[in-house]
Amino acid sequence: MPSAVIFRLVALLLGMTGVWSVRNSGGTARRRSWLPLAVASICCAILASFAIAAVGEGEAPAEPFHDSSGSAAAPPSRSEKQADAKPSGANSADKPAPRKLTAPKNWPPGHPLPNVASNCVACHLTAGRELTAAVEHFVRSVHDLNGLTCYDCHGGNRDDDARAHEEDFDFIGTKLSAHLKTCSECHDGEAERLAAGPHHWDFSKRINTQYPTCVDCHGNHDIGNPPAEFKLTDMCLDCHHKLDKDYPRIASVVKHGDQLAAVLRDVQKRNIALDDPVPEAFREPLAKLRTDTMNVMHGAKEIPAEKARDLNDRADKIRTGLANWLKSTN
Ligand code: HEC
Ligand code: HEC
Ligand code: HEC
Ligand code: HEC
Ligand code: HEC
Repeated sequence: MPSAVIFRLVALLLGMTGVWSVRNSGGTARRRSWLPLAVASICCAILASFAIAAVGEGEAPAEPFHDSSGSAAAPPSRSEKQADAKPSGANSADKPAPRKLTAPKNWPPGHPLPNVASNCVACHLTAGRELTAAVEHFVRSVHDLNGLTCYDCHGGNRDDDARAHEEDFDFIGTKLSAHLKTCSECHDGEAERLAAGPHHWDFSKRINTQYPTCVDCHGNHDIGNPPAEFKLTDMCLDCHHKLDKDYPRIASVVKHGDQLAAVLRDVQKRNIALDDPVPEAFREPLAKLRTDTMNVMHGAKEIPAEKARDLNDRADKIRTGLANWLKSTN
């Protein structure tokens, strides 16, 4: 493949430029270590060229599709990308045929089955204990409502059950750092917003106990439909013992958010069988509020009093509206 040769030459040239620039850079701290750096940069260049050649024509970098303003084109599902990248595997480019889903005996009465009848769901539904609990929690999460399934986060083989958990098919199991990277690929705008603030983290580092991660605040399987006992305030308090005193305005936004979430949970319970459990009239203000709250919370800075008042008033208005709706449809 001639393009691979060109890539390799260009990369080699880049490597040489790297040596040259390191050698000629003035900083004393740098100069001492020019040799390993130079060797490393040549190695990287060569490795990179092989990697590019292996992928083929070299894919264009992904366009951000979900910016922090919340306007979004549909994010490509991970499985679509995977299907493109694995021409020789068992995964076909077409959507896999839906499987037959059978609820297990102890499935909560009236609880729907997931929207996408993937092989993962079909087997995990009856696999028992935490393997089934994952499915139960996933049902009616925001990702279930939007037609995603297990392999969109976990990877894995979508056709061949015997190879469902193989790394060759990008299965990442329960590795947290890999999951955070996956969340951030689909939600790049939100992830960048978080990375720019004091809660920044580097998911290439394996262990992070200092900063809250996506799943600390959002959960994993039940995102958008968390359990009744979850309060975001408690999560903040784990690290900021005096949240109220130190950041009273952002603390008030977290509190009003928790109050709204409690009512939303009842609405979701009431409408659990619907494609979108939230009554139409509330969807748009709720989506706008969510985006504005995200900007504040991912930014993790104390905010002006006006800003807090605006967010809290909007949260209260939606909350009382939904509470009245619940009463009127009782
Ligand atoms: C034929 C049944 C079957 C299928 C299909 C299946 N799983 Fe599993 N899965 C299991 C069983 C059994 C376990 C527990 C034992 C094990 O790890 O093999 C498990 C474990 C897991 C775990 C926990 C692994 C860990 O390290 O703790 C994850 C995550 C998971 N499966 C995700 C998936 C995803 C994603 C798919 C679809 C691509 C899938 N599974 C398909 C049966 C299945
Ligand atoms: C939005 C992303 C996402 C989706 C979708 C998802 N998972 Fe997970 N899953 C995670 C994360 C994150 C973890 C926990 C990683 C950690 O904390 O170490 C996890 C953990 C698990 C575990 C280990 C036990 C547990 O509950 O912690 C199993 C089993 C599992 N998932 C199965 C599934 C199945 C089956 C589906 C589809 C019904 C699914 N997951 C859908 C993100 C996801
Ligand atoms: C394959 C792409 C994909 C992956 C991976 C993914 N998401 Fe999502 N997520 C979506 C889509 C699609 C929606 C619904 C439309 C929207 O809000 O963008 C969504 C919505 C959300 C929302 C909005 C919640 C609400 O109530 O509306 C949150 C929060 C979220 N995801 C967090 C996460 C986290 C945390 C992870 C990783 C554990 C993750 N997502 C992994 C695609 C993805
Ligand atoms: C796992 C621990 C952890 C959790 C949980 C956590 N934070 Fe933080 N937070 C930090 C760390 C660490 C910093 C950075 C402190 C520093 O730079 O001095 C920080 C910084 C902040 C700041 C900026 C402080 C400043 O001096 O400007 C605010 C505001 C904040 N967090 C609010 C929150 C809120 C609200 C929550 C809950 C939604 C939360 N945090 C949850 C660890 C945490
Ligand atoms: C300190 C807590 C915290 C952390 C850490 C955090 N989020 Fe959020 N996020 C929020 C809050 C609060 C909101 C607004 C209310 C809601 O949707 O729950 C939000 C909103 C969102 C939304 C909805 C945005 C919209 O416009 O509808 C997405 C998507 C999201 N977060 C993804 C992520 C991802 C991905 C990560 C990790 C890279 C992450 N979040 C980390 C607290 C957090």
